[in-house]
Amino acid sequence: MKITNAEFVISAVGPDQYPEDALPEIALAGRSNVGKSSMINRMINRKNLARTSSTPGKTQHLNYYRINDEVYFVDFPGYGYAKVSKSQREVWGKMIEKYLLERETLQLVLLVIDLRHPPSKDDELMYDWLKHYDLPVCVVATKADKIPKSRWQKHLKIIKEALVMRAGDQIIMFSSEEGMGRDELWAHISRFAFP
Ligand code: GTP
Ligand code: MG
Repeated sequence: MKITNAEFVISAVGPDQYPEDALPEIALAGRSNVGKSSMINRMINRKNLARTSSTPGKTQHLNYYRINDEVYFVDFPGYGYAKVSKSQREVWGKMIEKYLLERETLQLVLLVIDLRHPPSKDDELMYDWLKHYDLPVCVVATKADKIPKSRWQKHLKIIKEALVMRAGDQIIMFSSEEGMGRDELWAHISRFAFP
């Protein structure tokens, strides 16, 4: 995918702020600090359009990025960060749930998982929830640069088995640091965004 234009559009807290141009949307869900915002930057080859941080809890709203005027990435706040208060977690949970259940232009959810570790309970719940509502999911196992290549397949298998991944769902290995998986992920996204 050749990126000619990428821009931050809005940090939305609810439907009245979502863009109205009806372009297809790709959402990124996953644990706090797993690398969702970094993934957006790598996909568009920009260093810091999406704000990233080594401290979890950086992304706090539904952050919309418009790419080439033809697709949006929607960056979610991460889940599972203990230092975020219970009431804040509930607010984020409701905001994300509402988006996922009601957004008609949503085409695909990227469930971002750390390739180094087995999925957390929250990851498993998220995947099951998405499948319960029949949403198309692509699991993206990121930070692949952090483990030796010889262990990649074993780790992929652990993730697939722990999530009990459905036959139609893809899993793609990724590294925002090194760019691996970028072309494959764009190809996959294109199938959903531009069928
Ligand atoms: P929240 O917004 O808090 O939910 O986090 P996030 O999922 O958006 O994570 P973010 O992209 O901010 O990245 C968290 C940390 O992981 C940062 O220090 C990144 O530099 C690092 N990181 C993200 N992706 C990779 C990767 O593929 N490889 C390596 N080595 N580090 C990564
Ligand atoms: Mg983020």
